[in-house]
Amino acid sequence: MRIVLVGPPGAGKGTQAAYLAQNLGIPHISTGDLFRANISQGTALGKQAKSYMDAGNLVPDEVTIGMAKDRMEQPDAEGGFLLDGFPRNLKQAEALDENLKAAGLKLDAVLDLEVPEDEVVKRIAGRRICRNDSSHVFHVAYKKPAQEGVCDVCGGELYQRDDDREETVRKRLEVYHTETEPIIDYYKAQDLVVTIPALGAVEEVTQRAMAALGRGE
Ligand code: AP5
Repeated sequence: MRIVLVGPPGAGKGTQAAYLAQNLGIPHISTGDLFRANISQGTALGKQAKSYMDAGNLVPDEVTIGMAKDRMEQPDAEGGFLLDGFPRNLKQAEALDENLKAAGLKLDAVLDLEVPEDEVVKRIAGRRICRNDSSHVFHVAYKKPAQEGVCDVCGGELYQRDDDREETVRKRLEVYHTETEPIIDYYKAQDLVVTIPALGAVEEVTQRAMAALGRGE
């Protein structure tokens, strides 16, 4: 399956993507995680991306579209993928459609995670991620690690993302409304969108998403 996960910052895209990708046997591709891995490795791409991310803005399309395309063309993504955080504006959505069409492929579904803004703010404020791998995500109240400040998966140090500061979060939400929300209508016109109410326990949200994909129990 080829799936896009969309929703505001802190909606739980990364959290859900990890479970859904595992259940569906497809790779979880997060452009945010790819950028953060480049930043921690000190690559030129990471240096370029960091200033945009710290300001809460989108990294330019010229950088992002090529990076996402390269990742989707890796052998593990031949049978499908779950995209998290890409596409994030109409230009990226059109580029994705063109790339898929050129390969004779298409998307199966776009899952829109719906969460009220006050909940999103609470989720972001308490989020802690792992220094070794930013896809290892915890929360000080909702998903506590067994040992405070230590990643359950790999023992890495947990920390708060630089772009999770209050003023940056406000900017990210604004960018989501102006740049990313229009892709929901773009995909509605292709009859691909399923809205998933994303309040409630992580497992409940995963079950709703699996059911929406026709893979419920
Ligand atoms: P990115 O990393 O994609 O961030 P985002 O879209 O803002 O989303 P988040 O990672 O903040 O949240 P999430 O929805 O994954 O929530 P999570 O599962 O962590 O992008 C960061 C930046 O990179 C962008 O601002 C931009 O600069 C750049 N970028 C990335 N992609 C780009 C692109 N395509 N084009 C241009 N620029 C791009 O959950 C949040 C917290 O809530 C966690 O602590 C979690 O434990 C908790 N939680 C999750 N689910 C639940 C639940 N059901 N109940 C209670 N708590 C929960």
